[in-house]
Amino acid sequence: MSSPSMEQLEQLLAAAPARVAAAAAIEEIDALDSELLGKNSTLAQVQKSIGTLDAVDKPRVGQAVQAARATLSSLLEGRRSQLEMEEASRSLDTVDVTLEKYEIRRGALHLIQQTIDEVCDIFIGLGYSVAEGPEAELGWYNFDALNTPVTHPSRAESDTLFLEAGKPEDELLLRTQTSPMQARWMELHEPPVYVVVPGKVYRADTIDASHLPVFHQVEGLAVDSHITFSDLKGTLAHFAREFFGPQERVRLRPHFFPFTEPSAELDVSCFVCDGHDNSCRVCGGAGWLEMAGCGMVDPNVFEAVGYDPGTVTGFAFGMGVERMAMVRHGINNIRHFIDNDLRFLGQFG
Ligand code: DAH
Repeated sequence: MSSPSMEQLEQLLAAAPARVAAAAAIEEIDALDSELLGKNSTLAQVQKSIGTLDAVDKPRVGQAVQAARATLSSLLEGRRSQLEMEEASRSLDTVDVTLEKYEIRRGALHLIQQTIDEVCDIFIGLGYSVAEGPEAELGWYNFDALNTPVTHPSRAESDTLFLEAGKPEDELLLRTQTSPMQARWMELHEPPVYVVVPGKVYRADTIDASHLPVFHQVEGLAVDSHITFSDLKGTLAHFAREFFGPQERVRLRPHFFPFTEPSAELDVSCFVCDGHDNSCRVCGGAGWLEMAGCGMVDPNVFEAVGYDPGTVTGFAFGMGVERMAMVRHGINNIRHFIDNDLRFLGQFG
């Protein structure tokens, strides 16, 4: 014969499977868990009563309580994991797992900007300032102040993009070079002057493998009381070794620019073959790479900006940024810089 509390426990066990199965949410399982197994449950009460039972009944009731606890626990756990799985698959239904993962890719400076930064850093190391000037420029700064007469071919509309704005006599144009900042800077600063000017320049050119109508230059200007041509050569040699490698040599080839006298073009020895490979992919066998125009500032330029050519001398140079990046990285087509193809740009991140 079973004790009354055992009867209660048996009823509870009999009803449990249906009640647990009917639970439709995890919270209902939690509630059933504390009702059937918690401190105030019938099971707990029966367990508590064991101490008051006869020695004969104790083991039997004890075992029944243990078995009931195991049965109820496994019923509850079974339904709980079922409900958890249902919930998980419900939330999966709302996520399209076939969608492409959305990733924010880390960007990088464009190779042109990286090159400009590197060039400027080298000159900052020599004590130069960095300045920028206007891209829409007056004919005076782009040409006249730079000793370039109205008859000079570069002033023709076939070479220069003139703007239909401002007074016609101002000849507002898109600067064809960064050199006008030489004049602007000297107008505003007393010598000594040591400045580099990076920026965009514009020319009426058709795009091909080595020309863009918009490209970049870095201008340099040094004016002081005893600047000589050797200072120019030494400065550019230092720059070339920093930028291309410690073994590079430079040479200056006579050239003409209106605003420097004498003028030269700067070549750097080919950092790939050093002149030993007739079919070198970088220099084409020449052994030298053309890098910049340069020269000693023409006295007429000093006069145009109000400097006394009797007391100061100086040198200037202008280099093409695209060209330097192409030479340095073996890039064979200038169009890569404007195509914005991430397969190209990503190589310089
Ligand atoms: N502005 C010239 C050009 O675009 C380059 C240049 C040559 C700059 C000689 C200079 C210089 O400062 O001295 O072709």
